[in-house]
Amino acid sequence: MAVGDEQRTASGAGLMRALEQRAERPLFDDPLAGRLLGGWQAVMVGNRVLRWAFLRFMERIGPGFYGAVVCRTRVIDDACRDALAGGIRQVVIVGAGMDTRAYRMPEMSRARVWELDLTVVQAGKRAALARVLPEPPGHVRYAPFDLATQPVGEVLATAGGDLGAPTLVLCEAVLMYLPAGAFDGLLAYAGSLAPGSRLVLTYLPRGVHDDPRHAGWARRLSWQAAFDAPEMAARLAGCGLRVRADLGAEEHRELLLRPLGRSLDVFAGERVVIADA
Ligand SMILES: C[S@@+](CC[C@H](N)C(=O)[O-])C[C@H]1O[C@@H](n2cnc3c(N)ncnc32)[C@H](O)[C@@H]1O
Repeated sequence: MAVGDEQRTASGAGLMRALEQRAERPLFDDPLAGRLLGGWQAVMVGNRVLRWAFLRFMERIGPGFYGAVVCRTRVIDDACRDALAGGIRQVVIVGAGMDTRAYRMPEMSRARVWELDLTVVQAGKRAALARVLPEPPGHVRYAPFDLATQPVGEVLATAGGDLGAPTLVLCEAVLMYLPAGAFDGLLAYAGSLAPGSRLVLTYLPRGVHDDPRHAGWARRLSWQAAFDAPEMAARLAGCGLRVRADLGAEEHRELLLRPLGRSLDVFAGERVVIADA
């Protein structure tokens, strides 16, 4: 990825969630996403006609990208609620970007949450948060982190995390931007966690990565690591992690969109896997 691309992908996902907040039957409640936007994005999200035009434009240039982001958000929100209801009290968000879960989900306030991200992206997010939250919430900690070069456990321990506590680890829309090897340390860390811990990550399916129809996106988004589902399950199993669910566009349409009577297009370029330690 070129310098600045990380920030762009992080704010792009935040923008999709801000737009979803204005949908008639939204998949989740994220009142903060829109407040973290600035410039033309804030103006566009606040204007019904501009929102409509932007979403149409989005669907033309990247059919289903919006649907994929908002569906994965909902799936991961549900996975967080489930893990926290099961008693987990430590959450580590790797490549947090503009993720607002720590601030918007009441369940999260009962946990200690660490947000890990590249220094520049984390600084941008913290500056945006400082503009809208009078006080940084006491349950959230931040640690600058590079998944490609640093061990998660060490960074977390230095930041005050408890390596022995059951932990929920989220890694949403990060792996596809890194070489496949960058992921090994994350898996080893997740596999070393206390029983009851859970890992939720998203990955790019190999079939989509290799499909020549998506070559333009592969180039523009600098896609790197891709896996097929059995390969992902085997990698997780190799680190002692057992897949509970592996969900993609088809499941999102059936389980999330159909009950809401929504007919969003969902790009099949990202799957969510939920695994137990
Ligand atoms: C598409 S954004 C997703 C952000 C957030 N997880 C979400 O879903 O809204 C990708 C995120 O991965 C982070 N990232 C990229 N390379 C990274 C690395 N080597 N180490 C840690 N984070 C990284 C970026 O800074 C960015 O926040």
